[in-house]
Amino acid sequence: MSHESLVLIIDYGAQYAHLIARRVRECKVYSEIVPHDTPVDRIKERAPDGIILSGGPMSVYEDGAPGIDPAVFELGIPILGICYGMQLMAGSLGGKVEPTGVREYGKTPLTVLEEGVLLDDLPLEQTVWMSHGDTVTAPPPGVEVTARTEVSPVAVVESRERGLYGVQFHPEVVHTPAGTEMLKRFLYRGCGCLPTWTMSSIIEDSVSEIRARVGEEKIICGLSGGVDSAVAAVLVHKALGDRLTCVFVDTGLLRKNEAAEVVETFGRHHKMQLVHVDASERFLSRLAGVTDPEAKRKTIGNEFIRVFEEAASGLEDARFLVQGTLYPDIIESGTRDAALIKSHHNVGGLPEDMEFELIEPLRALFKDEVRAVGEELGLPEEIVWRQPFPGPGLAVRIIGEVTAERVAILQEADAVVIEEIKRADLYREIWQSFAVLPCVKSVGVMGDGRTYAYPIVLRAVTSEDAMTADWARIPHEVLERISSRIINEVNGVNRVAYDISSKPPSTIEWE
Ligand code: XMP
Repeated sequence: MSHESLVLIIDYGAQYAHLIARRVRECKVYSEIVPHDTPVDRIKERAPDGIILSGGPMSVYEDGAPGIDPAVFELGIPILGICYGMQLMAGSLGGKVEPTGVREYGKTPLTVLEEGVLLDDLPLEQTVWMSHGDTVTAPPPGVEVTARTEVSPVAVVESRERGLYGVQFHPEVVHTPAGTEMLKRFLYRGCGCLPTWTMSSIIEDSVSEIRARVGEEKIICGLSGGVDSAVAAVLVHKALGDRLTCVFVDTGLLRKNEAAEVVETFGRHHKMQLVHVDASERFLSRLAGVTDPEAKRKTIGNEFIRVFEEAASGLEDARFLVQGTLYPDIIESGTRDAALIKSHHNVGGLPEDMEFELIEPLRALFKDEVRAVGEELGLPEEIVWRQPFPGPGLAVRIIGEVTAERVAILQEADAVVIEEIKRADLYREIWQSFAVLPCVKSVGVMGDGRTYAYPIVLRAVTSEDAMTADWARIPHEVLERISSRIINEVNGVNRVAYDISSKPPSTIEWE
């Protein structure tokens, strides 16, 4: 992508770096995260307008603590050090960093001594979020201290002439109310960046890049109904029109009405070339008698590839394939613990042995940015804001055998959950909320009769990234409505339970 401004964030501890990148982008300046061992020459080649040294979990004194090549400070590029990053900067340039013996943690009052660039026109007394053990006790020569806290005599430093800025606290977290304003001052005034990285500029850049790469060739895209493949498809369609063919495999394991919505949105509304394969019968017959979760996932994965290949066999002249890869996938691919907990099969993703060149129009974006691009491109809210859904679909929420009857029960119950969660205005704040169908039955009483039917388990979690999750504290009235509607409206169900387990040790899905 071409950007008018670029800020590189040097990563000293992943969690902080992600947040900083997001905040910088919210200030409409494009930012990327690079590992702390990136050679200085590589940084220089990228010609960033500014560099941010992130915070990190270690102490600069610990064995193996990541360091910094002092040559970074000779590049003439403005640098902001945050927490650990500020300590590295101070330590490298002749300042003093010492363990205080007191951990300064949480919301802390900050007193501004000198406004300078970072604190210009901001309250002279304000709250910032601290989390550190070591502290800078003397700034590097020529660098001025512009704010202090009770524990940190050197809480903010800067030298506009040398382009050096440092904050001991975390401006990227919401608990530092003026944090974004400080970042803006660093970006716009310290680095001279312009706030030009907007959704429409992302779309324009992406469209011209896709055109340049694909030229007159043909391209295909696997649509799953999820937001990532949807936005990727619409972007590519905007760039290439009918040279894009989308393939949508309906496994029969989607949420209620999902298949119809995909066909309506892409085929009719966006007028894309859409190959819609209704493979529900095929999937059901492959799944007959399969009860082991891993066997289910593998069966679905293999069948999906077969169906997709058949559908794509009429499209041999396509040389490119669209993938909805996001920026966190790129950042995490190198670091994520590879232990196999569940064999994920991403239905948007495709067979490895198909020889396509990949086009990944979302590879620089975070999920919320993908959603914003989707809205800008006119995708309907139901698709842009849809909660994540596993590739193998409802099959991993049906414990035991997957049959047409059980899929229908789950779809109905799930539709009630979604409807009520939306009605309670909780749909966006909850990461995922859905129904699970176990393979046991229990006794109930309805009217004058005894029933012996399935329970539905309601699962609703809050999460940042699905790596960890907590059960959502849904108001009792909402739980009550969901329960009574499911029991009354869904045939074959006589009980509703709420899953109150977090991840870990449970997982979000049941299989
Ligand atoms: P778990 O159940 O492992 O799920 O806590 C974490 C997140 O991943 C989703 N999920 C999948 N997504 N293909 C996908 O594309 C899969 O096979 C798959 N299995 C789970 C799950 O919905 C949650 O968001």
